[in-house]
Amino acid sequence: MTLTEILPTLRSSLPAHLEPAVWPRTAGWGAGGELRVGGAGLAALAEKHGTPLFVVDESDVRERCRAYVAAFGADAVDYTAKALLSIDIARWVADEGLGLYAGSAGEVRVAALAGLDMRRVVLYGSAKSPEDLETAYAAGVGTIVVESLGEITRLAATAPTGQRVLLRVLAGPEPAGGQDRRFGVRVAGGEAAAAVARIAAQPGLRLAGFDCSLGHQLSRFSLYEREIGRLCEFAAAMRRAHGVEPEQLNLGGGHAVAYRPAELGLALDAFAARMRGVLHLEADRHGMAAPRLTVSPGRAVVARAGVTVYRVLAVTRTQGGDRLVAVDGGMSDCPATALCGSRHSAVLLGRDAHAAAGPAAVVGRHNDADDVVVPDADLPGDVRPGDLLAVAGTGAYHHARATNFHLVARPALLAAADGGARVLIRRETLDDMLVRDAGR
Ligand SMILES: Cc1ncc(COP(=O)(O)O)c(C=O)c1O
Repeated sequence: MTLTEILPTLRSSLPAHLEPAVWPRTAGWGAGGELRVGGAGLAALAEKHGTPLFVVDESDVRERCRAYVAAFGADAVDYTAKALLSIDIARWVADEGLGLYAGSAGEVRVAALAGLDMRRVVLYGSAKSPEDLETAYAAGVGTIVVESLGEITRLAATAPTGQRVLLRVLAGPEPAGGQDRRFGVRVAGGEAAAAVARIAAQPGLRLAGFDCSLGHQLSRFSLYEREIGRLCEFAAAMRRAHGVEPEQLNLGGGHAVAYRPAELGLALDAFAARMRGVLHLEADRHGMAAPRLTVSPGRAVVARAGVTVYRVLAVTRTQGGDRLVAVDGGMSDCPATALCGSRHSAVLLGRDAHAAAGPAAVVGRHNDADDVVVPDADLPGDVRPGDLLAVAGTGAYHHARATNFHLVARPALLAAADGGARVLIRRETLDDMLVRDAGR
């Protein structure tokens, strides 16, 4: 029997368990319900900086980067910037040996402002604008991912001589059930082979290898294994037909993370070892040298480092008796919950609880049925307006996708480390938003 079973009242005053796979590595409870990340108390940060507030654990991001480099090797990992980016975050990942997958002129500008070695920056994107390309050329981006046939002529005409390119290849069957909206050149029907021939005929472009993107939140190795087999088969055919030999094969990102204690993340070391093994086998089978295997994760680098702190504004019950806890943010700062159905973990912080935990839906302030922050939280029965809640796993695709829906200003992004915190991106103000309104 546990102590909380003998003394049930003890259970209500104990802080919630922080599952290590879900919360930032440095997360831990202090006295009086203080939740610390990077040694900094989140309630104190909320008082100082306001809510909603994004806090990212710098050491967690750096540790994940190191784990990737340890698993795949130096020069083998690029961080996909769209998951979460600021100038300092670009510096952290570069410090730890990662390159950067940038998908827009803005992300390339951040990489340049961060002082990154631009040879380690890759411009990708199915629909690159003239501004994206011109910014990338001016910054000296090392690699550009070609994602359609038409793009080859455009790059040949505008890119600096000798521009290194990767070709995004769609080697597998179309995803079952849905419309196939993926960009890339398809092996089926000969489009990918035509793209290789077209690049090889352009003296100004240098085809360095192939790239793919298989989806998101993937934890099964078999999807990646099959793709390596298909890409090696395609590479061998291209060697025979055009004498081109890839030096790099990028397997993309999509590595799963756990948002809830029972969920499975991708087992990184086992994954890297398995992918290397499969690549060598497949390359051998086709009598070619194994290309350098690279990956470009986004979510798996930053998701677990991030926490969002909200202030509770209202608590009510539905006619059916379900508890609704409304907070001062919502789909303007966590669109992933509405868009992708991600389910996060939430805890009360800043004071001890005095009632046992029970089910509650944490909802946002946007008066919309889809405005859900955590649909099925487990929160103390005495949660009331004025309380603070922390939601885990919000490092990826939350701050990055925040909007001004309802003319609500976007939250600040702080980095917590070594017992303190600093602003990476300041909170937006009403004036920041209104300055764009020409009717003022
Ligand atoms: C188009 C695209 N989206 C996303 C990612 C990264 O996805 P995730 O954040 O799920 O790792 C990549 C990585 O290569 C990509 O190419």
